[in-house]
Amino acid sequence: MEFLEIIENRESVRSYSNQEVEEDKLTKILEAARLAPSAANRQPWEFIIVKSKEMLEKVKQTYQRDWFYNAPLIIIVKGDKNQSWKRKDGYDSIETDLAIAMTYIILAAFDLGLATCWIGAFDESKLRRVLNLKENEVVYAITPLGYPDKNYEPKGAKDRKDLKEIVRFI
Ligand SMILES: Cc1cc2nc3c(=O)[nH]c(=O)nc-3n(C[C@H](O)[C@H](O)[C@H](O)COP(=O)(O)O)c2cc1C
Repeated sequence: MEFLEIIENRESVRSYSNQEVEEDKLTKILEAARLAPSAANRQPWEFIIVKSKEMLEKVKQTYQRDWFYNAPLIIIVKGDKNQSWKRKDGYDSIETDLAIAMTYIILAAFDLGLATCWIGAFDESKLRRVLNLKENEVVYAITPLGYPDKNYEPKGAKDRKDLKEIVRFI
């Protein structure tokens, strides 16, 4: 698919079938994430693929929505604040770096016919416990990865502000 076509047509999917994700597709998605840019090229991330029944159950408890329960895989983009770049004024690039990696994941997934939904509203302290995170480790986003349910209908047109509202030439 053309890149701009991916941008135009990708959307958050909240309806999954339990069809398995092919390993070669998962590898391609993770390869895209691996190639994402990060401040000072620190690559302060780890991509956790939640695959076992036991861990899927636990992670799904951190975001209790009916539609989330069917997804066959969950990708967690985890960061390490000890690895991320810090500016002199204290700014830490970690959240930006992880957001870019997650963006690469959701776009690559769509290109391969797979669905995702960026989830930021999970129960953070629950997820920290489930993953046994250390103090320096952070998660800002997780996503289900799978095929849309057979009854899923793409939303189509995007609900976005008009360019006139959000662009200013100076
Ligand atoms: C930082 C961030 C957090 C989000 N958190 C959630 C979430 O917790 N649950 C959810 O269903 N969607 C979540 N979304 C998806 C947005 O609601 C969605 O991207 C937005 O409504 C635009 O729709 P689209 O992705 O279909 O184009 C999140 C998206 C972003 C970028």
